[in-house]
Amino acid sequence: MKSIEITRRNFLLGSLTLGSVLMFSKRSSSAVKKNEFIPVGMQVSQQFREDVFRLKLKRKSDSIRLLQLTDLHFNPLRREKKVDEDTKNLVRKLIELTEPDLVAITGDVWNENPFGKGLSFLESSVEFFGTLGVPWLYTWGNHDMLSDYSKGHDILARGNNSLYRGGLNRGNYEVVIENEEGKDLWRLICINTSNYGFLEEQLSWLRGWIEKNKSNTTPTFMIFHIPIFQYHTIWEEKIASGVKFEKVCYEKEEGSAFETINKVPGLKACICGHDHVNDYSGLYKGIDLIYGRATGRGGYGSDLVPKGGKLYTLFPSTGEYDWASITDDNERWHPPKNMRIEKKEELPWLHKLSG
Ligand SMILES: [Fe+2]
Repeated sequence: MKSIEITRRNFLLGSLTLGSVLMFSKRSSSAVKKNEFIPVGMQVSQQFREDVFRLKLKRKSDSIRLLQLTDLHFNPLRREKKVDEDTKNLVRKLIELTEPDLVAITGDVWNENPFGKGLSFLESSVEFFGTLGVPWLYTWGNHDMLSDYSKGHDILARGNNSLYRGGLNRGNYEVVIENEEGKDLWRLICINTSNYGFLEEQLSWLRGWIEKNKSNTTPTFMIFHIPIFQYHTIWEEKIASGVKFEKVCYEKEEGSAFETINKVPGLKACICGHDHVNDYSGLYKGIDLIYGRATGRGGYGSDLVPKGGKLYTLFPSTGEYDWASITDDNERWHPPKNMRIEKKEELPWLHKLSG
């Protein structure tokens, strides 16, 4: 396949153009005033009143396989129609290779809301996820724009195999993985970091979760799209291992979210997306901060970091876990400790790159 070379800069410029189209497109919901700006996901569902999904594992095993996909950037209006099909083929291949128990899709699934088409982009994405034969959860990305987020929550929750229950709390919810006897194995706290990152809106919901779950001892992950500031810290302080080719885009979150995040009982790790050419992780005050591997062929970055996914293997009896970034040739990569790569020529996969 001819690779697509898109830098973050021209990628975002394209998005801005689409954003200005959005400003002048007709809104479909009577609940939303014309041209009223609503941050991503920040409405509530009128239909779904629960914010927890309990997922019973279908197979007996000591471990759980969680496949993270992120930044898919579907764009049906793109001139090169084949790009989205290539992304879908990659997703199918990753699922075939990893046979996950569930998939976590961490945002930027489609590109904005040009001509008010966001809802139809969402519908076709949900339809695609429903064909994968695997339960899936979703957290909102800053590009996942709609005219009506109430409808968006409902479309997501009604999707085939969907675990999404974000409609009650503007995109924040929880998935609890349990065994056949109903015993909790792993908890996944899903946060909507919307346009600007992990701010007071999200923290206020999280404080409520902590209050209700003070005695939690089940291993827990937090899942969201935009990294918190400490992703920057772990790289700067040489705690992290992996590859880094762009600034950590923590948006308006400047470090204060961690104090609350660190109070989540049972929390092992945070996993995020957003920055396509960063794939690293590091332990900050006992919490593992992990970037996913960007998946979408239509997103920037394939000239540096091959598109793929990240497979987490979770061991509920000990709370331990492992992960590997995986590409469609079944190459699995976990950086050795202290591997810190910021130059293209040092990449272990240099021979596979296009540019
Ligand atoms: Fe993003």
